[in-house]
Amino acid sequence: MSYPYQIRSQEEYKAAYEKSIKDPEGFWASVASSFLWRKRWERVLEWNFEQPDVKWFKGAKLNITENCLDRHLGTLGNKPAIIWEPNDPEEHHRMITYRDLHHKVCQFANVLKNNGVKKGDRVCIYMGMVPELAIAVLACARIGAIHSVIFGGFSAQSIADRLKDAQALTVITCDGAYRGNKEIPLKSVIDDALVQCPFVNKVIVLTRTHTPVSMLKGRDVWWDDEIRKIETLGLNDCPAEEMDAEDPLFILYTSGSTGKPKGVVHTCGGYMVYTTYSFVNVFQYTPGDIHFCTADIGWITGHSYILYGPLGAGATTLMFEGVPTWPDAGRFWQIVDEYKVNILYTAPTAIRSLMGYGLGPVNAHNLGSLKVLGSVGEPINEEAWQWLNENIGKGKCPIVDTWWQTETGGIMISNMAGVTPAKPSYATLPLPGIDPILVDDAGKLIEGNDVSGNLCIRHPWPSIIRTTYGDHERCRTNYFATYPNLYFTGDGCYRDANGNYRITGRVDDVLNVSGHRIGTAEVENAINMHAGVIESAVVGYPHDIKGQGIYAYVVFANTHGNENLSRQDIMQTVSRIIGPIAKPDKIQFVSGLPKTRSGKIMRRILRKIAENEFEAIGDTSTLLDPLVVDDIIKHKI
Ligand code: WTA
Repeated sequence: MSYPYQIRSQEEYKAAYEKSIKDPEGFWASVASSFLWRKRWERVLEWNFEQPDVKWFKGAKLNITENCLDRHLGTLGNKPAIIWEPNDPEEHHRMITYRDLHHKVCQFANVLKNNGVKKGDRVCIYMGMVPELAIAVLACARIGAIHSVIFGGFSAQSIADRLKDAQALTVITCDGAYRGNKEIPLKSVIDDALVQCPFVNKVIVLTRTHTPVSMLKGRDVWWDDEIRKIETLGLNDCPAEEMDAEDPLFILYTSGSTGKPKGVVHTCGGYMVYTTYSFVNVFQYTPGDIHFCTADIGWITGHSYILYGPLGAGATTLMFEGVPTWPDAGRFWQIVDEYKVNILYTAPTAIRSLMGYGLGPVNAHNLGSLKVLGSVGEPINEEAWQWLNENIGKGKCPIVDTWWQTETGGIMISNMAGVTPAKPSYATLPLPGIDPILVDDAGKLIEGNDVSGNLCIRHPWPSIIRTTYGDHERCRTNYFATYPNLYFTGDGCYRDANGNYRITGRVDDVLNVSGHRIGTAEVENAINMHAGVIESAVVGYPHDIKGQGIYAYVVFANTHGNENLSRQDIMQTVSRIIGPIAKPDKIQFVSGLPKTRSGKIMRRILRKIAENEFEAIGDTSTLLDPLVVDDIIKHKI
């Protein structure tokens, strides 16, 4: 496979960038021509950001799985599409060729059809990182069902909220999942969620951990039994459903500044073009390379750069079930060595945690196969960048620092490996086709260099969010209303003297904990569910490994003298309501929260206290009760 849209030098980058800004439609039409369409578009782009209404490749017909699977069969049929590494290194890995993957996706697509799933239906997928998760996702896309993958760290309540929001009638899950030395009882969590969701009429369960599970007659079926039925019926092929370029491909829930996660919707045509285009260019993928993205498919990084981007490019993608520190902290490096991984795409939080184990686990393995390293999810601090560069890349692998979001679908600002220069802790330059700008709080364009502001994007790109599921107004107010005619990212940003972008973090009430997005309002809602809590306020604070930690100030009715137990009760409550990923790192019981006379909680003050920046608190005399601030500082943990 060759990639006519691949940019190979700095000069080509400059030329492509210029063309993409002068003639975006011509630029994207040319990129899109390398894909397989059943019918070509009538118009490349129609858009306005007021509503918003964005249509890419209008009138075109396609199926993304034909691009990710069928079109590679002739040339790459016997090449590995997915290498799967299990949690336990003693268990056998699996190597799934493009031909096998095509076959399995077709079979499972028929299972879905056989179970009544139709084009446009929503299917919720709550599985561990097993190849069948990839198969389930692609099988949905094959028949035009809209997948909604939920990360395994979310609770029953979170799943129920998402199932209701999406009105998903079908769930695909596993009996359990392995993660390091833990076993997560996925089916049991689903059962708890379904108590609130009687509309779900089918649950397909894959056996992974052999954990005993309850199976309801008429509703719950085994994956393997359903495959056998399909085999008996001889239904091995499944022609791909013809989709409109703007038909939804998937929903992925993500946190915002309100208490309720939003279902970000991506569509078939634009998402396909952008994920593969950005995959090839950022990582400079060369056919035959082994690409290892350590994310979970429950997040956007897994959707775009474990599955759709690499498979669209006919790449070999390595999917890892386990965690970086089990059975020991050399697990990533052992995998790199064993499979001769060429591209490693991971998160700063993982790097920081592995740095803590020293070089022993690194030096035990041969990392000579590595060509490119990538980082995503949060700003990468200079120390982690240098460690990665020296000890993993041995000074010879370009590091791409990729800035993007669930809503952008693919990488937006990043250097391109070996093509455009890196600068530690900078995402550097926009990809051709991306037009970032900085604005001040009033929405005024900030021109020139060596400036900071709110990061916005001026022109649509093919994988821009189309809507928030079931609530288009929310999409408009969240992303397109803050600054007229701009997509607002929610991130603050600095542009240096040479025009390189450095993302400085969220400017809204969204936290980034170990690269996971969590809304402070969501955590507060969960804390407030605890019977003893009167009110709470949650802020982020710098955390050595997680990037940000969660600091909760809680006004509690009565701790019965056992504050520690009450703290744990609150943690349990948050775990039940959202999931273990949202548990506060610190809970401070306080007598009151700093409020203005109109009753607004002064989070800025709480943030400064959590960051130990007491001098920066400023004037508190206008508060309803200035003394609470002194009290909070005195008892700070
Ligand atoms: C942050 C993950 C700095 C940012 C793909 C963004 C980053 C949010 C970077 C999106 C980076 C992601 N440098 N910050 N390279 N990558 N972020 O939706 O705040 O889970 O808005 O998407 O993560 O998180 P999300």
